[in-house]
Amino acid sequence: TNGAFMTPQDHAALPPRFPQARPSACPFDPPRDYRDWQQRDGLQRVTLWNGTTAWSVTRYEDIRAVLSDPRVSADARNPGMPRLSPAGGDRADQEPPFVRLDDPEHALQRRMLTRDFTAKHAATLRPRVQQLVDEALDEMVRTGPPADLLTDFALPVPSRVIAVLLGVPYDDHAFFQDCSNKLLDLSLPAEEVRATSEAFGTYLRTLVDSKAAEPGEDLLSRLLAERVSTGELTEQQLVSMALLMLIAGHETTANTIALGTLALLRRPEQLAFLRDAEDPAVIARAIEELLRYLSVVENVVVRVAAADLTIAGEHIEAGDGIIVSLPAGNRDTALLPDRPDALDLTHNARAHLAFGFGVHQCLGQNLARMELQVAIPSLLRRLPTLRLAVPFEEVPFRQQMSVYGVTRLPVTW
Ligand code: HEM
Repeated sequence: TNGAFMTPQDHAALPPRFPQARPSACPFDPPRDYRDWQQRDGLQRVTLWNGTTAWSVTRYEDIRAVLSDPRVSADARNPGMPRLSPAGGDRADQEPPFVRLDDPEHALQRRMLTRDFTAKHAATLRPRVQQLVDEALDEMVRTGPPADLLTDFALPVPSRVIAVLLGVPYDDHAFFQDCSNKLLDLSLPAEEVRATSEAFGTYLRTLVDSKAAEPGEDLLSRLLAERVSTGELTEQQLVSMALLMLIAGHETTANTIALGTLALLRRPEQLAFLRDAEDPAVIARAIEELLRYLSVVENVVVRVAAADLTIAGEHIEAGDGIIVSLPAGNRDTALLPDRPDALDLTHNARAHLAFGFGVHQCLGQNLARMELQVAIPSLLRRLPTLRLAVPFEEVPFRQQMSVYGVTRLPVTW
């Protein structure tokens, strides 16, 4: 499976490249080839940047089968793990974050956090999030129009929320946002990613040390007091955990807010539907549909077979790499028989895969849902004349990134 680097003469014989870009004609849709692979029997083999191959899984049911199979490993230290970029899987010597560990190690760490991420806890944070959203909107109105919806609204809201929860000073947001961006960029040279990850790690270690000396009312302080001091968690594990939550906690939500707003601006009737919705259940359903339709987590979910197994009638050998495409799975008629390619806020998309599936299904999903339910409708109500400040064709989309989205969203009102 793990062949040598690609040579030009090999190229023609190799399976198609992965990842591919979303179509420029409809940048909300998954790459076209993925949809073709979905229609074929079995699983598609794909070639990664370094010439190695892996199985691509694009169908809804196959994705659920892979992500719930205990014979499928998420352990970053496994040599068969697909590397989506030069720096991917580079952390063999470091402590992988628990999203890249298997049970029981994974479960042990995740369980230390579950009570901070329940739906009930998210509900108690809602007034505070509404306040942060309103403040960001006030500031936009004070300084605009125009505005860049990404940096003026979509990024600051979730960044502030996760910073408050963890106890990371928001004043450092330029630093942690820049580090997160680099760590999610598949096109960067490995050295640059390594340097970023070291700088980010050093920053968080210093922060953790300062909390050990002077605890605050935050998650990192509590984990230090309750888990590190008892020896259940090493300080290095806590730093990895913090890094994971800080990145996952703002990049995904921010890109869903920005891309979701853009998708709604393209469909004024859907936008009006959400803006005018009053029933919380209707809003919640609309947000699930946006999560499904956009599926911003696109080049993240990699696994490796820890034993021989069969998926979609395909024999997968122990050590084979597996890559799951959530955006493709979320457009499968097995999830949504009625027009899966349409953004329809009345769809019942509740069983979507945007948060993954199985034991690693997103820990922050209740928090993310609440943030989106507050942020997007508040934005649409506060700025009812919101529109793009540039032609749609000029909106820059993120390419070669783990998490999809826009790099800027110029708007006016
Ligand atoms: C895991 C998506 C927001 C924290 C995941 C996974 C996905 C995902 C697909 C599974 C990765 C895998 O199986 O390899 C999203 C989306 C979000 C979002 C679409 C927002 C729209 C958040 C937030 C947090 C968070 C706000 C806050 C801390 C995590 C963590 C994991 C995770 C800690 C690892 C869980 C585990 O391995 O048990 N997320 N996420 N996410 N997410 Fe999120």
